[in-house]
Amino acid sequence: LSPSPRPQMEEGLRPAPCRAKGGAPGFKVAVLGAAGGIGQPLSLLMKMNPLVSVLHLYDVVNTPGVTADVSHMDTTAVVRGFLGPKQLEAALTGMDLVIIPAGLPRKPGMTRDDLFNKNAGIVRTLCEAVATCCPNSIVNLISNPVNSTVPIAAEVFKKAGTYDPKRLLGVTTLDVARANTFVAEVLGIDPKDISVPVVGGHAGVTILPLLSQVNPPCSFTPDEISYLTKRIQNGGTEVVEAKAGAGSATLSMAFAAAKFADACLRAMRGDAGIVECSYVESAVTELPFFATKVRLGRGGAEEVLPLGPLNDFERAGLEMAKKELMESIQKGIDFMNK
Ligand code: NAD
Ligand code: LMR
Repeated sequence: LSPSPRPQMEEGLRPAPCRAKGGAPGFKVAVLGAAGGIGQPLSLLMKMNPLVSVLHLYDVVNTPGVTADVSHMDTTAVVRGFLGPKQLEAALTGMDLVIIPAGLPRKPGMTRDDLFNKNAGIVRTLCEAVATCCPNSIVNLISNPVNSTVPIAAEVFKKAGTYDPKRLLGVTTLDVARANTFVAEVLGIDPKDISVPVVGGHAGVTILPLLSQVNPPCSFTPDEISYLTKRIQNGGTEVVEAKAGAGSATLSMAFAAAKFADACLRAMRGDAGIVECSYVESAVTELPFFATKVRLGRGGAEEVLPLGPLNDFERAGLEMAKKELMESIQKGIDFMNK
């Protein structure tokens, strides 16, 4: 057989389809921190998402390799790689959804707040670029400490005059995934058949599973409530210790982030009734940011849903969560106004 006479296209220049499979709109998605432990599997999962027509992979290291690798998957999305700050603008221009897992992970013995000094600056820089290059995009923020990085991002967008609280979403989906998994284990059922709301924030006692609001409704003994609450709050540390210095949750986090991004994309397409837990600007408590269920729509978190009825145990947990959360939020705001 002689080779096809068709002219060869330069690598990476395949035109992006404007419609994804099935005639659905195709969205442009960027992953910032795409070469990292979360970024790589998350990029793979986003390349598998039929709602994505263009996938931009940005990092300060190793994006050429990750991009070449992911781009060989025979799914619709066109993949382009961007390396280093000079290519950040090109990575972000025209994006509909920006997912940010850039930043240092924990090692054993560290709290998420110990990452603040390194990651606050990274998040500020990346969000400044989002404000300039794709001010109308929806942002899914993963970098820790989420309790502080989301307020930092909000301040960046306020300073730039682009802030829309609906479009800034802190990703707490991994807490929900863990809660569903651990509760299903206790009940002896499939995790896909259960939904556990997790509210508050994303660190230690600020992670507040609402076991009284599990759907479908089920009851737990006091021992089960104590075990489950501690295990869910400690899920990240459980992984950090098991990895013994090699980082924190990456695979389950990529899975959770891809699930949350898919929910955002379906909502952006116009699907109704999409509700996820997320850490957002909120009037549910006296704190300016709080994670609860939110109803996602074309513009992001269209509605922040109330906490619902809490039992005494959860009310006590809420008070502890609020105290720590307030300090983390203020630390983020102060960082931007010093
Ligand atoms: P990692 O070190 O494996 O990867 C981070 C990546 O970010 C690296 O590739 C690094 O080069 C990149 N990076 C650093 N500075 C950058 C910049 N200025 N611009 C773009 N990219 C930059 O870490 P990881 O395991 O992927 O974790 C990433 C972050 O996600 C950590 O802060 C971690 O604590 C957090 N995390 C959050 C959750 C959550 O539930 N929200 C869960 C797990 C991890
Ligand atoms: C997690 O919950 O797994 C992440 O926040 C990473 C960590 O440091 O625990």
